[in-house]
Amino acid sequence: MSTQPFDYQHLFSKASKVGARSTFPRPKYDFAGAYPDPETLPLQGLAQALKDSLEREGAELAYYPHTAGLPSLRQLVADKLARDRNMKVGADDVVLASGSGEAIAMLIQALTDPGDVVLTEEFFYVGTLRQMRRYDADVVGVKCDEQGIVPEALESTLQGQLAQGKRVKYLYTIPTFQNPLGWTMTLERRKQVLEICRRFGVPVFEDDCYVDLRFEGEDVTSFHSLDDGGQVIYVGSFSKILAPGMRMGYMVAPDDVLDRAMSFKGGGGVNEFAAMAIEQYLRESMYQHIDEENRALRVKRDAMIASLGENFGGSATWEVPQGGLYVWLEMPDGVDLEAFQEQSFREGVGYYNGAMFSPSGDGKNKARLCFGHPSADTVYQGVAELARIFQRHGLMQ
Ligand SMILES: Cc1ncc(COP(=O)(O)O)c(C=O)c1O
Repeated sequence: MSTQPFDYQHLFSKASKVGARSTFPRPKYDFAGAYPDPETLPLQGLAQALKDSLEREGAELAYYPHTAGLPSLRQLVADKLARDRNMKVGADDVVLASGSGEAIAMLIQALTDPGDVVLTEEFFYVGTLRQMRRYDADVVGVKCDEQGIVPEALESTLQGQLAQGKRVKYLYTIPTFQNPLGWTMTLERRKQVLEICRRFGVPVFEDDCYVDLRFEGEDVTSFHSLDDGGQVIYVGSFSKILAPGMRMGYMVAPDDVLDRAMSFKGGGGVNEFAAMAIEQYLRESMYQHIDEENRALRVKRDAMIASLGENFGGSATWEVPQGGLYVWLEMPDGVDLEAFQEQSFREGVGYYNGAMFSPSGDGKNKARLCFGHPSADTVYQGVAELARIFQRHGLMQ
């Protein structure tokens, strides 16, 4: 037996990237990771639901899962989307995936060739950005304000691409409690964005994973409900209303899109053990659980906003989100939160800098702060600690 470590260096594919298996330690105050509230995680309810569903249909586990995922959970998703998002869909329009991240990756693969132009919000979920880059998309961010994507900017970007002879493949948007920006796109904006995209023959790829985390204000209907011609592709997740560790999400799209996306599914289907527990639990307790979680998250959001006011007032700006998990902190131009991020982690407060979420690498003076996981007290203290660290290193007065 050889004691030399085997050398893989000349075997790796060109697409593989170094550093994908992150081992960064969790800081004392973690505002970086996008985790929901752990206290309201319904462990007892999930355990009971799993037991009940195994007794009822556990023998199904002897087979490989249905290719589109557990039919009863797809029905639950379809019913929820019809009720909550005004979507006219049935179970056959829904495909489950191992988290919405997998659904997004499958759709990106089905729709993206190297060099294709794809449009996004100017800052958006880094997991999707990474997938787009992995398939060598030319990712172009469109300017946003607190109401969502700016229609004039979208139109001129589409025109500009057309003038260069380039075809835009799709517009990816997180219209509700946007990650990382926090706003919800208004109904008027959604209609304008959809109409502009329709004129240019561009589908809208709607990522609605935060929609249930509303603490106040009125729901805005989905892009999907505003369209009846198959122009909208929709993804959602159970990560934010249950737990990311369950790895369960879904996509809704026209038949041919689902068909192509599923050609990129590996691993023998979606975990039916988790699907059974989720279906049984949510069938009985979905809205009660969501209300409880939102009550907890709202207190944390308020703690973050209060602490920002006390510790960052005059040195930074932010908006108060009506839901979701994030506050977007903006420091003056020239403050480099990208360069400082690692030091901040080391000193005990984790955040993600704005440039991580930008296709062009802009936003070094901005940061996303997630208030979902720490307790409200910890959120409050952590923001004060972040201000002390910034002061100590001369990033603010
Ligand atoms: C906007 C958005 N979409 C998708 C995901 C992926 O979530 P999951 O794969 O856990 O469903 C996340 C995770 O944070 C997200 O913020």
